Formats: sequence, C-alpha cells, structure tokens
Amino acid sequence: MCPPKNFVVEYAINAWMDTTVPVDTSLAVKQWQVLHDSIVDLGHEVRLLAPAPGLPDMVFAANGAFSVDGVVYGARFRFSQRSAEAAIHRAFYETAGASWRFVAPTAINEGEGDFTYLPGAHGGLILAGYGFRTDPAAHTEAQEALGRPVVSLHLIDPRFYHLDTALASIDDENVIYYPGAFSESSQAVLSQLFPDAIVATEADAMAFGLNLVSDGRNVLLNAESSELARRLERLGYHTIPVELGELKKGGGSVKCCIAELRA
Ligand code: ARG
Repeated sequence: MCPPKNFVVEYAINAWMDTTVPVDTSLAVKQWQVLHDSIVDLGHEVRLLAPAPGLPDMVFAANGAFSVDGVVYGARFRFSQRSAEAAIHRAFYETAGASWRFVAPTAINEGEGDFTYLPGAHGGLILAGYGFRTDPAAHTEAQEALGRPVVSLHLIDPRFYHLDTALASIDDENVIYYPGAFSESSQAVLSQLFPDAIVATEADAMAFGLNLVSDGRNVLLNAESSELARRLERLGYHTIPVELGELKKGGGSVKCCIAELRA
C-alpha cells in the first residue's frame, strides 16, 4: 500500500476523475489510514511504498504489478502520467528480500487493476480484463510469465475501466461481479466458469462495492455499498465498510489501494 500523501486529481484518465472537483488530501490520508489499520487489525501484514512527488495516483498500488507464487509480472501503464510508478514497484520486489522473481512486461498492463488470481479455481486461474487499459497481448505474456491459465474478459463500460472495478475474488475459488461491465461473450464465459458467483447490480458497481478485498471470510468494501454489504453478511461474510470518498474522485476504492503480495 502507499499512503495518498500526494493524492490530487490534476489530470483525468478515467470517467470518475474531474479536475474541477476539489480533493481534500488530508482527508484522503485519514480515510486511507482507516483502511490500512483495518487490514492490520485483521492480522494481515502490510508493506508500504513511500509516496513519490508528482505521482498522485501512487495510492492505487494495485496497478503496479501482479504476483502469483513468488513470480511478479510487472506493470506498464497506459498513460504517461503514471508510467514512472512501474519502476518503483519493480524496485520494491527486487529489494524486498523475499525471493521474488520479477518478469518485465513488454505489453501495456496495469497489474492487479486488470488481473486477479483464484488459487482454488481449476488449480489456479488468472482472470484478466482488457478494453480500456490493459492490452490483450499482456494476457498471453502474463500466462507465459506466471504459468497459469489466463481467461480474457472484455470490459465494455468506461465507468468500469479496470477489471477490479467490476469483479473481485470473494474467496479462493469464487468471484463476485457486475455482468453489465462485460461483453455478452465474456458474461457467458464468467457464468460457465463460476456458476456459483455472486452477481452484483449496477448500483453495487457504481458505489465501487466490487472494488473489494476479501480474505475469504472478511470483506473490506467501500462504505457506500451498504446494500451489497448486507447481502454479503447474509451469505456468511464479515463485512468491514471503509469510507474512501476522496479516493473515489480518482476512480478507485479499497482494492485499488492494495497490491496483494502472493509470495
Ligand atoms: N486514477 C487512477 C487511474 O485512472 C485510478 C486507478 C484505480 N486503480 C484500480 N486498481 N482500479 O489510473
């Protein structure tokens, strides 16, 4: 994770960003801190990246890489405003001490923004989005780098420009997603692979409720998604709502702030 010390909206590269809407950076930091502390309180280990000046979107750490079983497939950002973030993430893995193997990308891809991993589905399955940010060529590159099957999913709604705005792993083998974010064929693929998926509404997606992080039991999600939280509670999950209204102005929420380290 990376604290939003330098977070502002001074360029607009997704449908949520509006440079005329003021951002309260210190409130963003406070809200982010609650997210951070909630994860620590659940017993998870958090590693921090130092926020670099001139990179206001660094708080969205999910976009910097994608790791599976100690192998890291690096990011290559779509827009120049964020491109310098990739090297910072790379340096983290290369100096982290753990035995990460870093694979540099040639294709444009935005890390966990467009890739997610389900260790318990079909022996380990990667889901990958394309259509707005990540190039489909990165999907085959990730499959070669990580040695897991990659299922390509076509995102068609600009409001849901990253896979992680429309789909999340809810546990090791199942997902929650909003079908309308995907092409009809990709919806068919998802219902074939995940007959037991939790199917979310457009309102859930608009509240950034699908930009969640789950450890299989505890689900951290945007506080606006109270309806989805109630539904998840009925399904037996423990939900932890987190207020991230400032970061939503950048087009992100819980999941965007977290790069999962699958060592
Ligand atoms: N402003 C950032 C961008 O457009 C938001 C990234 C959100 N991250 C995510 N994982 N969806 O690149």
